[in-house]
Amino acid sequence: MSDDRLIVALDVPNALQGLAMAERLGDSVSFYKIGLGMLTGGGLALANELKQDHGKRIFLDMKLFDIGNTVETAVRGLAQFDLDFLTVHGDPHVVRAAKEGTSGKDLKILAVTILTSLNREDLDASLIKPGDVRELVVERAAKALEAGADGVIASPQEAALIRALPQAKNRLIVTPGVRPAGTSLGDQKRVATPATAISDGADHIVIGRPIYQAEDPKSAAEAVLNELNSLTRH
Ligand code: C5P
Repeated sequence: MSDDRLIVALDVPNALQGLAMAERLGDSVSFYKIGLGMLTGGGLALANELKQDHGKRIFLDMKLFDIGNTVETAVRGLAQFDLDFLTVHGDPHVVRAAKEGTSGKDLKILAVTILTSLNREDLDASLIKPGDVRELVVERAAKALEAGADGVIASPQEAALIRALPQAKNRLIVTPGVRPAGTSLGDQKRVATPATAISDGADHIVIGRPIYQAEDPKSAAEAVLNELNSLTRH
């Protein structure tokens, strides 16, 4: 049986290739993340096909941000598709509106805290308050969880700090930036292995290139699953 702690990011060029990759991965992968790049070109149709015809779980990585009314309407529209996870920016008004929009459906709202591509200099340029980036991430995570987020997206380095928050009890932590030992980092800078990310408190890990760019994607996914299986579930 496949293990839904592994979420494969389907960051391939188009929906057809996404479907082909999911078919190649077969039963070994049960959870897919579909991002903005794909969503602007048939990604929602792919999400529905993977869900309805292949029984996969789906994480839509849309990172929504807008006035509350617009976020709520957008989420209300998406909630009818029976998908599993959706990202929004972690600003409390956005999180509250998104939760409102789910109208009781089982679509989990995950908050993005501070994009991992941003450093202190970028935050200064955006007039974000001074302070250590990691501390701001944890502070934003706490606020998003207080606003009702079902979970947060966090780098593996932040997972343990967020897991320690009282607000994070029974909430999800989903970590990208995961690299099985011996695979290329790509543009990821702060990475952890699958086992470390889960041990540090992540419920799900998101892995893209090390799987879909592998010569044998199915074996690459199975190697990650074997690594996870060597851990006891928490
Ligand atoms: O290919 P790779 O394993 O680096 O893919 C990671 C996925 O997680 C990509 O879809 C990327 O956009 C996403 N992501 C990330 N870092 C974040 C948030 C999302 O790498 N902080």
